[in-house]
Amino acid sequence: MSALANAVREDRLWQRHADMAKLGATPRGGVNRQALSPEDAAARNQLAAWARARGFAISTDAIGNLFVRREGSDPAARPVLSGSHMDSQPTGGRFDGMYGVLAAFEALEALEDAGVRTRRPVVAVAWTNEEGSRFQPGAMGSAVFAGHYGLDDMLAARDWKGVKLADALAETLGAAPAPMRAGKPGFALDYYVEAHIEQGPRLENAGTTIGVVTGIQGSRRYIVETDGEEAHAGTTPRAARKDAFAAATRIAAAMYEATTDADDTLRFTIGRVEVHPGSPNTVPGKATFTIDMRHPQDAVLEAHEKILRDIVASRAAPCSAKIERVTAVAPTDFDPRIIDLVRDTAGGLGLSHMDMPSGAGHDAMHIAKLCPAGMIFVPCERGISHNEIENATPADLAAGTRVLVEVLAELANR
Ligand code: HGY
Ligand code: MN
Ligand code: MN
Repeated sequence: MSALANAVREDRLWQRHADMAKLGATPRGGVNRQALSPEDAAARNQLAAWARARGFAISTDAIGNLFVRREGSDPAARPVLSGSHMDSQPTGGRFDGMYGVLAAFEALEALEDAGVRTRRPVVAVAWTNEEGSRFQPGAMGSAVFAGHYGLDDMLAARDWKGVKLADALAETLGAAPAPMRAGKPGFALDYYVEAHIEQGPRLENAGTTIGVVTGIQGSRRYIVETDGEEAHAGTTPRAARKDAFAAATRIAAAMYEATTDADDTLRFTIGRVEVHPGSPNTVPGKATFTIDMRHPQDAVLEAHEKILRDIVASRAAPCSAKIERVTAVAPTDFDPRIIDLVRDTAGGLGLSHMDMPSGAGHDAMHIAKLCPAGMIFVPCERGISHNEIENATPADLAAGTRVLVEVLAELANR
């Protein structure tokens, strides 16, 4: 193993995960560290404190992406970037996103400890609001950085309680400011590599340590709203009702049926439902629910979007209903040069590896539009994620980080 790969310290990396898992810790051993919450601010401040202690430069941008920079020998050279996200699902695990940020930080430390100079700067990043569970859309920070979403539109986003993102962001950045990069988010970079737990069972089932990620499936998000008429639960005859939740359930049932494909490739999820006014003895006048739909082929997503729209139009009566598309991210193919480098590096380290697509979305899907990008997966226990019992092993996390640091060093000296 090279001196650089050897400089990756499994114990230090595992301890940092344990330290971060205290921020937003939940009773079942997971985390609730939603975007721009006080817990998210605490994680940012913890990363910034570790960075300062190592003499790395930190900065943030107008959507709150946090950058930790290790200088290269050529100050004019465009950086190599690596990272992921620190925000979590409400019942999230301690590795989803956080591993990619801490692996990138561990890579900077290993470069430092091994005394490896690189021509390009190497920058670790924690992207704002990847999960999109509090504020929609998800992968927000990386999408604004890549110019996929407008900054002002995102600052105007509101969470389910009506809190404006701009206000939550101001509180977060005010908690312990890192110097704000001037101008619109985004800067020129030459390569991006993100480490992440697989969030599925394939690596574990194959007894394989490293996932050489070839791409990310396409994803679309929608909000369906049905509008009826509040009425008394006891006195209103069925024939006179405009029950918004009854309409929502008719629409949802038809959608589940229409998205049940024979080869179980299409992913259709209704993750959040709200009923108004939410009183047991008032017929609901309004209902909303979210849709998350994914598939490796955009044409399939397009065809199913039409089916969803037709269902909304045909199943709403006697209520009215509408469906709004919140996000559409086309399938991502990573750069073959990065895929090959990850595969060769894993092989060179004697680690078992396999090429595989990503079922989960990641910030890399936006950054891949700016420069050659790729991802490195490590297994998670039984493939479980977006669940407090999410787990991984110190050895696998360190193995993925060893691949990462060697890939970053190679790219930073090209
Ligand atoms: O939803 C996703 O795919 C990601 O884990 N946020
Ligand atoms: Mn993630
Ligand atoms: Mn996630």
